[in-house]
Amino acid sequence: MKRIAVMTSGGDAPGMNAAIRAVVRYGVTKDLEVYGIMRGYAGMLEDDIKQLNFADVGGIMERGGTILKTARCQEFKVDRGRQEAYRILKKHEIDGLVVIGGDGSLNGAALVAAESDLKVVGLPGSIDNDISGTDMCIGVDTCLNTVVENIQKLKDTASSHERAFIVETMGRNCGYIALISGLTTGAEAIVVPEVKVDYQILADKLLAGKKRGKVNSIVVVAEGAASAYTVARYLENKTGYETRVTILGHIQRGGSPTVSDRLLASRMGSAAVEALINGESNIMIGIQGNSIVPVDLNKALQTRKELDMTLYDLANTLS
Ligand code: ADP
Ligand code: F6P
Repeated sequence: MKRIAVMTSGGDAPGMNAAIRAVVRYGVTKDLEVYGIMRGYAGMLEDDIKQLNFADVGGIMERGGTILKTARCQEFKVDRGRQEAYRILKKHEIDGLVVIGGDGSLNGAALVAAESDLKVVGLPGSIDNDISGTDMCIGVDTCLNTVVENIQKLKDTASSHERAFIVETMGRNCGYIALISGLTTGAEAIVVPEVKVDYQILADKLLAGKKRGKVNSIVVVAEGAASAYTVARYLENKTGYETRVTILGHIQRGGSPTVSDRLLASRMGSAAVEALINGESNIMIGIQGNSIVPVDLNKALQTRKELDMTLYDLANTLS
């Protein structure tokens, strides 16, 4: 292994820069040449690839987003597109690849491992925390801190006006962001795709809170579960609460990464390079407990990540 490349792909996540920094610096320290591929698979196909040295990744750990930029690229999903990408990587004599991204990006990475001579290691980078084989993805902790900070602000105005706020969080088909942010802000109810929504129970919870003297109500709705507006309309009719909807949107993907994300990204980035040096391929670096572990990439992608229902029950009990 002489020359490796690193790229970020799909939705960006805070901590991706810390991961890039770790890959570059760990690689350079181990006498590898490290290249950065711009804009994910799109930049790969456009041959937008440049060498990165130790100094090129200085001062990026604390920055949100990704200095390599990111993109979604339909062309890479078709065989002809990928064959062209392999030709370009071969031309650069790249023999190892680190892909940092969500499940879509990692599906692309698994295809690279299967169809080319390259050794490939994936890093789970996504605010959604929907990837199996790892307790956490890079970016999740920062995202949760952003969501919690914003819900806390909404609680102030909700209390002043005695309103119910319906807050929509991201996560695609996964309710993790909604569950953890709802639990840690004491939301009255949490609506996630993994649990069929029962509107009557939601209304009853809000009314019970009102009876106990609560002056605000927060309902966190994961984007993949229901429309926040539909939930708001129903609750307004059933409870008499005046409601407002806040869709947090892409604010959840920004910001300087937390200590936890910087540490996770640094550990995962260096482990990815170490794995490539050891000749490993078609794996993803995960964290299980507090251990950084290699996991089979295909297995991780084929297994649905379950929501921790004990936390869902706990949120219900405590709210
Ligand atoms: P994320 O990685 O955040 O889940 P996407 O699902 O949009 O984001 O995937 C990012 C990119 O990864 C896609 O635009 C495409 O270039 C590539 N990709 C996704 N799925 C596949 C696939 N099945 N085969 C090849 N490439 C894929
Ligand atoms: O996968 C990360 C994510 O932020 C999801 O939570 C969300 O559904 C999606 O990406 C939004 O994608 P885009 O940035 O293309 O609107």
